[in-house]
Amino acid sequence: MQREVQREVQRERQQLVVSGEELWVWRQQAIQRTIDWVAETQVQPGVQGRCQGSDQSQRLRPESLLPEQQSDYQSNYQPDYLQELDWLVRSVTGLDRLALRLESFRSSPGIELTRSLSELSHLWQQRLEQRVPLQYLLGSTTWRDFSLAVKPGVLIPRPETELLIDLAQDWVAKHPMLDRDSVMQWADLGTGSGAIALGLSRSFPQAHVHGVDVSPVALGVAQHNARQLGLDEAVHFYEGEWLTPLGALKGKLDGIISNPPYIPSAEVPELQTEVALHEPHLALDGGEDGLASIRLIVSQAPQYLRAGGLLLLEMMDGQAAAVQELILSSGTYSTVQIHSDLAGVRRFASAQFAGG
Ligand SMILES: C[S@@+](CC[C@H](N)C(=O)[O-])C[C@H]1O[C@@H](n2cnc3c(N)ncnc32)[C@H](O)[C@@H]1O
Repeated sequence: MQREVQREVQRERQQLVVSGEELWVWRQQAIQRTIDWVAETQVQPGVQGRCQGSDQSQRLRPESLLPEQQSDYQSNYQPDYLQELDWLVRSVTGLDRLALRLESFRSSPGIELTRSLSELSHLWQQRLEQRVPLQYLLGSTTWRDFSLAVKPGVLIPRPETELLIDLAQDWVAKHPMLDRDSVMQWADLGTGSGAIALGLSRSFPQAHVHGVDVSPVALGVAQHNARQLGLDEAVHFYEGEWLTPLGALKGKLDGIISNPPYIPSAEVPELQTEVALHEPHLALDGGEDGLASIRLIVSQAPQYLRAGGLLLLEMMDGQAAAVQELILSSGTYSTVQIHSDLAGVRRFASAQFAGG
């Protein structure tokens, strides 16, 4: 019996080491399958870009638009499947882009994989036919300088959201008295995978960070991510609606950050297929005008912020004027600023609570 188990383990190990030639053949077949699939389904992958090592992979995005950097939930977004295929290969082999582009791996006698080639074929089929985001298939994504587990039921954190952490860092740099206070208190409302809460904690190791979400699935993933990053002592997670679970922190928060659901309900089914079919609508749907959650957070935050505290929100392209007006008309904030993301979209609003 034990020998049978040993043989099974050995068989599995053998499957996880392939020659460069085997991997090359698998990749060529997957490229061909992808091209055929795209032609059949008439999904046009990306714009004309540079060739990556194969005559067949001619229609690729420019290098700057890597799959892990795809942003937003735009309905007009078209995935670049060939680039994603290479992302899949890279993530299970540890090979770099250059090795794939030059196909230098082909002569290698043994390449270790974290998944067998048949498993990869199955994953790739799910990516193409069911339009499942690769991050869900791989179970992880990178965000800022760390890796986060993700799974269906939890929003895949987007690259533009990373800038919220830079904005918080700038804020603290401009308010040095915060740095002297050894225990800053931050809240991340709608924490999802925990990305913002964990990014804050890595930036401000002395701070206490409080992540809130109404979704138990999201909280399970956020807690797992906190443990993986060794931040489970510094970051606390709460299940509930926005600020409601943080009653004990009324008047004590130095900053409230949120990337809330902000897509108008009618637009949610029109989002790119991967998002509309597979990402949680709870994380996307911002009510009739997209501003329902933002409205609630703007009105509740003053009870929880200390005087001079920061409210920092992410929003959708086109919402800046309305969000600015919401904040100003509440009459409780002294300054309001709009900040753009790297694509020039007016994406974030920051406001300082006047106090009182
Ligand atoms: C756009 S996602 C942001 C997730 C994560 N912060 C990020 O940036 O990747 C919005 C999050 O808000 C959560 N959410 C939705 N309604 C909520 C509510 N009433 N109270 C608290 N969280 C809520 C969703 O479950 C989702 O995780």
